[in-house]
Amino acid sequence: MAVWAGAAGLPARAQEAADAVVPEAATETGQQAISGMSAAAQEAKAAGVPVTAQDWMVAVANPYAAEAGARVLAAGGTAADAMVAVQAVLGLVEPQSSGLGGGAFLLWHDGESGETTTLDGREKAPLSAGPTLFLDQDGQPLKFFDAVVGGRSVGVPGTPALMQTAHARWGRSDWAGLFSDAIRLAEEGFIVSPRLAMLVAADAERLGRDPVARSYFLPDGHPVAEGQLLRNPEYAATLRTIAGQGARQVYVGRIAKAIVEKVQGAEGNPGRLSELDMSLYDVIERAPVCVPYRGHEVCGMGPPSSGGLTVGQILGLLSDFDLAEMGPESAEAWRLIGDASRLAFADRGRYMADSDFVPVPVKGLVEADYMARRAALLRRDTALSEVEPGEPEFDHALNWADDDAIELPSTSHISIVDSYGNALSMTTTIENAFGSRLMVAGFLLNNELTDFSFRSHRDGVPVANRVEPGKRPRSSMAPTIVLKDGEPALVVGSPGGSRIIGYVAKTIVAHIDWGMDVQQAVTLPHLVNRFGTYDVEEGSAAAALGEPLKALGFNVETRALNSGLHAIALGEDGLTGGADPRREGIAIGE
Ligand code: GLY
Repeated sequence: MAVWAGAAGLPARAQEAADAVVPEAATETGQQAISGMSAAAQEAKAAGVPVTAQDWMVAVANPYAAEAGARVLAAGGTAADAMVAVQAVLGLVEPQSSGLGGGAFLLWHDGESGETTTLDGREKAPLSAGPTLFLDQDGQPLKFFDAVVGGRSVGVPGTPALMQTAHARWGRSDWAGLFSDAIRLAEEGFIVSPRLAMLVAADAERLGRDPVARSYFLPDGHPVAEGQLLRNPEYAATLRTIAGQGARQVYVGRIAKAIVEKVQGAEGNPGRLSELDMSLYDVIERAPVCVPYRGHEVCGMGPPSSGGLTVGQILGLLSDFDLAEMGPESAEAWRLIGDASRLAFADRGRYMADSDFVPVPVKGLVEADYMARRAALLRRDTALSEVEPGEPEFDHALNWADDDAIELPSTSHISIVDSYGNALSMTTTIENAFGSRLMVAGFLLNNELTDFSFRSHRDGVPVANRVEPGKRPRSSMAPTIVLKDGEPALVVGSPGGSRIIGYVAKTIVAHIDWGMDVQQAVTLPHLVNRFGTYDVEEGSAAAALGEPLKALGFNVETRALNSGLHAIALGEDGLTGGADPRREGIAIGE
């Protein structure tokens, strides 16, 4: 195989406009190795070859976190145990992306029972939130960062409760011990990575608005620098509380009170989160959304995420086309992938939201006949000129207006396989880089509520993903486990806003259709089309496809496409792991 290793309507317009705001940017260099474990992993990544192992593997966004997870797995911990250790460290060393102040979705494949299930740890809107949350006094949507920075955008965090629930369900290790690496690093200090330093410098003005965030990220008025030792004693104290008394301590008592005071007291843009909202938070177990693809079952996260349904639709629509024969350098293959994605995104914008609040045609959207009808639209020679949502089967009237939510997340992905045959795929976020920019108890609070549509209605027709009290905003996070004969074959996910969906679908196609190993599949240049514009990855071999795609009728834009894919493939020869060269992550296994 040549070359390719290396690096509807209103929603279309609104989402294209959203693209003008820069999400968390790409990093060109990785972090220094922490020890021999991460040095070997970084060598493999630099050489573009997967890490191999037999018993267990962890692939995550930062070497400190990967090593913490590896230590837990090497000591006989489960993937759920390792996730707790990884998440606790990520909240320290990659605070812009995820942490105790955010939310997450987790897929779990159980080695013993063979069951796959999901945990929904998504943030919730306060009970006092309503349809005008993101409208100004004239009833017009707020500008994105006017909504984000401050207390208004903060939902009840779900990550601490998710960590506790996963450990209670599937853990074997002592809960308190899982925080020891994170507490040590927070107290003794960790080396600021190039990525964290670059992102703090780029966001200095917004981070400087909250005095607590300012004194942590901009001590003496200067952004923390790459290579600097940074301590976070407040975070260590919070972790000690959680380690000793459980994650419930974030939802009631001193920490909850501090969060609420911070949100309600945010200068210029307060929110309405209350202690009651905090105390009512619940993690929800939900069935996965599974779609057949070339002899595999691709299982993902259902509503309130759009990830599983949209990845599932893209793959379902592509099932009838011989992508393997076409190959990754074929403009025809990318015409099909791009337009399958546009069709899936049109359905996403119309129908997908928190299914506990609005009826969502989950089965209908990935039902074989429906996807075959949508796939028939792709049987042509050029790009689709118009893309409209379809009409999936459903026993409910579906009169929704299209959504215009803007998603520019920070976010991080955790893939873990343990020695008991369990597989865990978890995408975790505080939404935009540094979330609401409010810092309390050593961590940043999310701005997840801006994942709702800012408008509640359009021409009198309600938007499914509108703000409602206690509702969870629609997500694009797509933690995925691909099964073959009922056993995990690929564990994968990524950050990247609504482009997450394209990154994950591409990686699955590259691995299954194009036979790439997991590192090649992750590294393969991105081409993503959600709303009409074909985004082609800057500085990559994909640029060669720009002109052929234009000739097919696509509007093409070259840009940085900042995924953070972490993937583990499981096969007869054991485990192979890949980490995204666009960020600082690594895979470690044994
Ligand atoms: N805020 C990122 C996502 O949930 O898609």
